[in-house]
Amino acid sequence: MSPEFHTERLYLRPFVENDSAYLLDLDSDPEVMRFITRGKVSSQRDIELTTERILKVQSENPGYGSWMCFSRENPAEFIGWYILRPNPAKDVEVGYRLKKKFWGKGLASEGSRRLLNYGFHEKKLKKVFAITEPDHVVSQKILMKLGLKFIDTRPYEHLMLGKISVNYYECTADEYAQAHIKKPPHI
Ligand SMILES: CC(C)(COP(=O)(O)OP(=O)(O)OC[C@H]1O[C@@H](n2cnc3c(N)ncnc32)[C@H](O)[C@@H]1OP(=O)(O)O)[C@@H](O)C(=O)NCCC(=O)NCCS
Repeated sequence: MSPEFHTERLYLRPFVENDSAYLLDLDSDPEVMRFITRGKVSSQRDIELTTERILKVQSENPGYGSWMCFSRENPAEFIGWYILRPNPAKDVEVGYRLKKKFWGKGLASEGSRRLLNYGFHEKKLKKVFAITEPDHVVSQKILMKLGLKFIDTRPYEHLMLGKISVNYYECTADEYAQAHIKKPPHI
């Protein structure tokens, strides 16, 4: 079982099957989906398939997967999700998706940093990667702030869109330690 986490403003707990309704709520906003599916919202069937994939990844990779995020101030308030999960090649990806009302407050960085601290310090990962659409400047800014470096733009097989190009970012454990040496990790 994956751990749960608290940060200054966030409570993160591992995804469970009953969380599908939160996924549907989040993916129903075309603005949230702009850089994921070019704005196409998810159907109930898409969410069922996503739920199956998340649960499969979590059962095959204990300690990794998707974390659902809630406000510490108002625990009933669903904010979005974060991932720290291996792809089929076992490279570990970091990612995030938040409801629009919570954008612009530094929460993507806050939750991701907690998962990266866990990944590098507790799971002793050697490397973490992330991908974004090439014109998703906000996400790219977050990744660089977290300590990831732009590697290249490469082809990617998107589940819904087919072949697209993505920007690929990476951070080694040493680079992460360097990036945060003057800034103690925000827990
Ligand atoms: C992308 C997303 C996670 C950002 O979340 P967020 O909580 O608003 O991000 P943060 O506040 O942590 O950081 C955003 C940074 O981008 C900056 N920013 C915001 N708008 C910007 C713009 N138009 N151009 C450049 N920088 C911008 C902010 O100033 C901030 O940087 P700072 O901390 O140095 O001030 C959120 O918009 C989201 O969930 N979008 C939908 C899903 C998605 O696209 N996920 C990522 C897929 S790769």
